[in-house]
This record gives sequence, structure tokens and C-alpha cells, in this order.
Amino acid sequence: MKIINHLDRWFFYALENYKIQNTNIKMNFNKNVHNRRNYVIIILLKIKEVKVLREDVAQILFSEKQIQEKVNEIGKQITEEYKDKEVVLIGVLKGANVFMGDLMRKIDLPVTIDFMAVSSYGLSTESSGVVKILKDLDQSIEDKHVIIIEDIIDTGLTLHYLCDNLISRKLKSLKICTLLDKPERRKVELKVDYKGFDIPDEFIIGYGIDYAEKYRNLPFIAALKREVYQK
Ligand code: IMP
Ligand code: MG
Repeated sequence: MKIINHLDRWFFYALENYKIQNTNIKMNFNKNVHNRRNYVIIILLKIKEVKVLREDVAQILFSEKQIQEKVNEIGKQITEEYKDKEVVLIGVLKGANVFMGDLMRKIDLPVTIDFMAVSSYGLSTESSGVVKILKDLDQSIEDKHVIIIEDIIDTGLTLHYLCDNLISRKLKSLKICTLLDKPERRKVELKVDYKGFDIPDEFIIGYGIDYAEKYRNLPFIAALKREVYQK
């Protein structure tokens, strides 16, 4: 019985400290010892997963709370500036997915959403400026007020190409909204209308943003340890 109490305490400690959610674990402390032991094993495995992701973090730049405050601010600003207008939000996949999901719920207007997926040609990790459209819009944006939602602007080449492409579709207006910006890396001029945070020239992960498709599920925005991508 003593061991069980210890495990129960440990279980709550784990939940508290690692904020493990969505694990589909239904707690029922009236269940037998065997079940409880299984819960603890599942939690231990979850913690290991979360810890492995976090071990590659060099520094947390923006916490969940800071991000949410900024997203609220931008949502409010868009709501005020597009009053009485219908807006189409175009998210750039996959990185902007999380930001888009949060932001659209802070815009108190009749918005519609769409997504584009693009990739840079070439093998380099840096944007080449020649963009391939992997997924185009589902709807026409002719005569619409459009806001592109992006996760990070780095050289600006991707968005530069994307803006040219969208403008040719005879839309009513086009604005750019990005969560993060690395202004010192810019290679082309770009007018950013809504911006979350300026960031230093670091490799960023979390809150939808990946390195080699990993880390998107980290709830905060962080710099990735250099040894991870400079292997
Ligand atoms: P740009 O064409 O150089 O502006 O590149 C923009 C795109 O590169 C962004 O939409 C991201 O998908 C990706 N990117 C740029 N910097 C980072 C980073 O630090 N971490 C992850 N992806 C990045
Ligand atoms: Mg992107």
C-alpha cells in the first residue's frame, strides 16, 4: 500500500511538472494496483518523449503565455482594421499551422481560411528564392481581402515569390502577417504588416516550426542547439 501511495504521488508530480495532456489516460484511483502501475509506465514513456525533444533546446525564446498574448494583440488589430470587410487568411504550410489556428480564433470577423504549401527548390537549407507550389488554394481569391499567415520570415524570398503569385490573381488587398521575423537576414524588401516578434539569427523550433519535421509540437518557441543542425 505504501508503494502505491508513492506511485500516486509520483504520478501527480509528473502531470504537474511536465504538463502532460492529451495522453488519453483516464485516471481512476479506485482501479486495481495493476492498472495503476500501467498508468505510471505510460506516463514514464511520455516524459521520456517530451524530454528527448527538450534536450535539443538551446534556449526558450518565447513562452506559451508570451505567444498567446502576442496572438491576442495581432487578432485584435486585424479585427479592428478589417471591420466590415471579409477576409481570407492564407496559411503557409506546414509551419504556420499552429499560429493560424490560434490567430483565427482571436479575429472577430467572418473570415474564411485556406492554405498553401510551398517548397524551395535546391538542396541548400537556405531559401533559394525559387519556390515550388506543392498545394495551391482551394478557393478563388479574386476581389478578396487576403492576409498571408507565415511562421518565420528569413531571407524573405519565399514570401516575395508568394506575394507576386497571389497579386496576379486580382485580389482586392494583400497583407503579410508573420509570427517571427529575422530582419537582419533579409535579401529582398518586404512590407510586413503584422508581426509577432523579431528574433536573432538562430535556428528556431516549436509552436508549429520544425527542424527536419521534428519539434513542431513543442508549445513554446525556442532556439535549437547548434550541434543538432551542424552535425
Ligand atoms: P525565407 O524564404 O528565407 O524567408 O524562408 C522562409 C521559410 O523558411 C519559413 O517559412 C520557414 O518555413 C523556413 N525557416 C526560416 N527560418 C527558419 C528557422 O529558424 N526554423 C525553421 N524554419 C525556418
Ligand atoms: Mg514557413
